[in-house]
Amino acid sequence: MKNVGILISGRGSNMVSLLRSMKDENHPCLPRIVISNVKDASGLQKAKEFGVKTVVIDHKESKTREEHDKKIIDALNKENVDIVCLAGYMRLLSSLFVQNFKNRILNIHPALLPSFPGLNVQKKAIDHGVRFSGCTVHIVDELCDHGLILLQAVVPIFPDDTEETLSQRILHFEHKIYPLALRLFAENKFEIEEKRAILKITNKEYENLVKNLMWNGE
Ligand code: GAR
Repeated sequence: MKNVGILISGRGSNMVSLLRSMKDENHPCLPRIVISNVKDASGLQKAKEFGVKTVVIDHKESKTREEHDKKIIDALNKENVDIVCLAGYMRLLSSLFVQNFKNRILNIHPALLPSFPGLNVQKKAIDHGVRFSGCTVHIVDELCDHGLILLQAVVPIFPDDTEETLSQRILHFEHKIYPLALRLFAENKFEIEEKRAILKITNKEYENLVKNLMWNGE
């Protein structure tokens, strides 16, 4: 069993999709703790409804990023966390944090990385006139929304899309790929190389997997 810690800053819909998936029989992961840096994040209540321990570690109560991250590292270590999932955790991680959980931190981002890292990315995709966007689950390194890509899902951008309609279409797929990526990651299905993570499944298995990761009129 792999112990999982989830970091949130807000509503936690991706956290819910992860917690729900970990209820499956034979799932290789156990959710041990949800940590929020925002004390009134609505995701905290949702985590409690899953019976998961929740902790608030307010970044405003620390003088430096390292000091704040150290508190989070301690809370995660207390629960023997193996894998950290960022789920709408809107803070950059210090190198201290990244090195502590090297290659064991996952993040979901609502764009097809390496395009459009950062904030307001659905608007940026529309403004840029790209025809497709989507979401990416990746391993976290020291840079913002950067690191080895694990899974991606693709959605079209329609001529009349607004930030809201596109966000909604992408979010639907976020809730699919994050649980899938976590499971494959925990089952050691990714071979981590310096510049990429190789998915160790057959072409046939990959074909079946990506069928669910492309918009088809939903
Ligand atoms: C999600 O769309 C997630 O991809 C994004 O924040 C939202 C959080 O929603 N994360 C990032 O932009 C990370 N750079 P949620 O709290 O409902 O999961």
